[in-house]
Amino acid sequence: MTLQTQQPVDTSPIAASRRADTDLDPLWRAVVTEMRTRGNDIHIPISFAFAERLCEAYPEADALVVRVAILLHDTGWARVDETKIISEGFGANWRQAQIRFEHEAKGCDIAREILPGLGYDEAFITKVTDIIDGHDTRPVSHSIEDSLVRDADRLWRFTPAGVALASGWFHQSPSSYCGRLRADIVPELITAAALEMALAELDRAEALLRTDVL
Ligand SMILES: [Fe+2]
Ligand SMILES: [Fe+2]
Repeated sequence: MTLQTQQPVDTSPIAASRRADTDLDPLWRAVVTEMRTRGNDIHIPISFAFAERLCEAYPEADALVVRVAILLHDTGWARVDETKIISEGFGANWRQAQIRFEHEAKGCDIAREILPGLGYDEAFITKVTDIIDGHDTRPVSHSIEDSLVRDADRLWRFTPAGVALASGWFHQSPSSYCGRLRADIVPELITAAALEMALAELDRAEALLRTDVL
């Protein structure tokens, strides 16, 4: 069942977000190298912005856990065999490919290496790694924070930048990729707020990219 919210949901274009919080800048700086793999430096900031909006819609969630987990969740791609990222990571059965499990495990390693030095305690780090571990391969979410990270991880794809990058990964035209988003990814969204955000972004992306013709 979709998780409802009584809070207002911000469905304005994510590209118009002007949040200027700098509290996690030391963490962003610590993983600059890991951001240079597989479009992480596009995917992660956009998903992070969606995660912050989702935290406003679900104030009962621990926002710091959500923000740190989404920031780090795909850093593990930087430590796996890059040649397999496309061949296995985006091939048939991509969600259960061995390379997927590896990027989750490596992401947990990176979190455990970096977070203690930035002042995060063991209990907090475990909450973060519990989300990173299985974020692509585990079929179910185990907490509200996990759900918000899972939805934010998908929401970036509904933006023009997400369509541009991910349609190329899957060798699809933008219009067929948008169709796939509607058919396959929309039903995976857990929260009502993410569903609203996804459909608003996708409507705008399809209009902008003229997918009805192209
Ligand atoms: Fe991932
Ligand atoms: Fe991701």
